[in-house]
Amino acid sequence: MDLKGRNFVTLLDFTPEEIDYLLDLAATLKKEKKEGKAHRHLEGKNIVLLFQKDSTRTRCAFEVGALDLGMGVTYLGPSGSQMGKKESVKDTARVLGRMYDGIEFRGYLHTDVEQLAGHAGVPVWNGLTDMYHPTQILADFLTVKETFGKLKGIKFSYIGDARNNMGNSLMIGSAKMGLHFTAVAPRELWPEESLVEHCKEIAKETGATITLTDDKIKGTKNADVIYTDVWVSMGEPKDVWHSRIKQLSDYQVDTALMHNAGDKAIFMHCLPAFHGSDTEIGMQIANDFKEEHPRVKNGEMEVTDEVIESPQSVVFEEAENRMHTIKAVMLATMGKAYE
Ligand code: CP
Ligand code: NVA
Repeated sequence: MDLKGRNFVTLLDFTPEEIDYLLDLAATLKKEKKEGKAHRHLEGKNIVLLFQKDSTRTRCAFEVGALDLGMGVTYLGPSGSQMGKKESVKDTARVLGRMYDGIEFRGYLHTDVEQLAGHAGVPVWNGLTDMYHPTQILADFLTVKETFGKLKGIKFSYIGDARNNMGNSLMIGSAKMGLHFTAVAPRELWPEESLVEHCKEIAKETGATITLTDDKIKGTKNADVIYTDVWVSMGEPKDVWHSRIKQLSDYQVDTALMHNAGDKAIFMHCLPAFHGSDTEIGMQIANDFKEEHPRVKNGEMEVTDEVIESPQSVVFEEAENRMHTIKAVMLATMGKAYE
């Protein structure tokens, strides 16, 4: 398998075999790291991280992953570069591509990361756009594989805002890797029909199934994985909280919902999560809406504190796996095949 020189913009560009290869490579790199075995295979190379939106996991995963591989890293934050203000994305790509050996981008428009990828001349990795979050799916699937020993045939229920970057990307990943994916959400928050149809086509080849439902009991019954994400994503206006809480408070992941899935089910979330009173935004929203929607009264939004702190929750393993999987993406696209 040789992925050298490839961009990592959406999982749609990758075959199931290539995704499997990246997951296996991540598992090898994880094992080596745990054993204290160095893997500085990209010594002398440099990468740049371009963030138009904030991040904890993605930024740190790229930085630690790059340092472990022996590379230098530059971070350009939401206000730290000329891009989009005094300089076009296309020009930025051509400048950075002459200085760096790889470029990570997190931002709003998916067309921006496509443009970077089209003009940089070095691998470009999507660290999240409004449409997709593909590196997250690799971490999620590595975690599922570690838990169940397989991906094929896993019953994967994603509940919440099913047409955001996470809903879209998990559906694509599931279609590619043969999972039984169910999006559980009110109809107006289902993924775009054209993407659903595309995923159903892919699913015909892989044995995956794609189901959309607004019935949270049927949609999560006997699931292996219950997955949720924030109800309002980065970049959405603050005033959508009102309608989103109204649409989704009934779809909060609580202990009853986990019971409906069953004892062997795991709980997953890409994080950050609103699950208690200790975040500024969570409490502000809770105070604004607790009378109308009592479920959110303690700053618990998409998931209760009880569920995220329960033994069924694997969210921190999942977060750690961001680093191992992102490292695998960088090594595979910048280096040569890893024996
Ligand atoms: N899951 C994820 O992408 O987290 P960050 O926003 O912290 O990078
Ligand atoms: N849907 C979320 C994912 C965060 C990792 C967002 O875009 O804010």
